[in-house]
Amino acid sequence: MDFNNKVVVITGASSGIGASAAVLFARQSAKVVLVGRNEENLNKVAAQCETARGIRPLVVRAELDTDADVEAIVSKAIEEFGAINVLVNNAGVGVCGSVLDGVGPYDKVMATNVRAVYLLTSLAAPHLIKTKGNIVNVSSVAAFKPIKDADYLPYCVSKAALDQFTKCVALEMAQHGVRVNSVNPGGTRTPFAENAGFTKAQVEELYKARDKNYPLGKMVESEEVADLIVYLASDRARSITGGVHVIDNGESLM
Ligand SMILES: NC(=O)c1ccc[n+]([C@@H]2O[C@H](COP(=O)([O-])OP(=O)(O)OC[C@H]3O[C@@H](n4cnc5c(N)ncnc54)[C@H](OP(=O)(O)O)[C@@H]3O)[C@@H](O)[C@H]2O)c1
Repeated sequence: MDFNNKVVVITGASSGIGASAAVLFARQSAKVVLVGRNEENLNKVAAQCETARGIRPLVVRAELDTDADVEAIVSKAIEEFGAINVLVNNAGVGVCGSVLDGVGPYDKVMATNVRAVYLLTSLAAPHLIKTKGNIVNVSSVAAFKPIKDADYLPYCVSKAALDQFTKCVALEMAQHGVRVNSVNPGGTRTPFAENAGFTKAQVEELYKARDKNYPLGKMVESEEVADLIVYLASDRARSITGGVHVIDNGESLM
């Protein structure tokens, strides 16, 4: 897979799946635009990307819940590299909450996991049409399956909305030669659960149970999800659009 001279914008590139995907794209000679909030982590990932093929990435520090920051991602990418070939909407938060908690958790999770994706996609779309590029959205098995071991109601709702967004935009953009796909991981070893508010001890317990209970007896690694993202973004996947691609060790079969 060759991304020589291709510009790839990746949100949530400062951690977990997004960081792994950024490094993998950089190894295939892509010009990567790394989006996140934690500057120290972004710079670490940028250094790894640059080491791969000597191409300096663009780092954009952005709070995705702020429209002006989302607008700046596209304008800075175009200013630096002149085009966008691939958009990876990977950033996401896990927000827990029960239906008894009101709409606070819902508003919080929808702002990042859906609204920001909607806005960034709409701003990047004209550029993707010019390059006949493509989009990969990072969703979850939580889109079609309630998560038993965590109180993830708001998160599940946000990922279900994201999958429908993927399909609708795929249909709309097909006439322009732009593909849109979703990658739906199951439990993946990243800082995600801790960022969602679980303690280190809770995460250890959660991981132990997942390694034991998932049909293939293990969790997913972020590099494996990155492989699938890069494949879908490549020309090898030229006939694939509107797809929801599960990578979950069989979790969604349980
Ligand atoms: N890990 C799993 O088990 C799992 C399973 C299924 C799906 N997923 C999905 O995979 C994607 C990546 O998650 P991960 O597991 O790699 O988790 P992670 O390590 O916590 O990474 C999340 C990334 O999203 C960024 N982010 C979150 N909210 C943001 C905001 N408001 N503005 C800007 N950036 C924001 C974070 O940036 P900073 O750190 O710089 O703040 C970070 O780079 C998410 O969409 C998640 O829902 C994860």
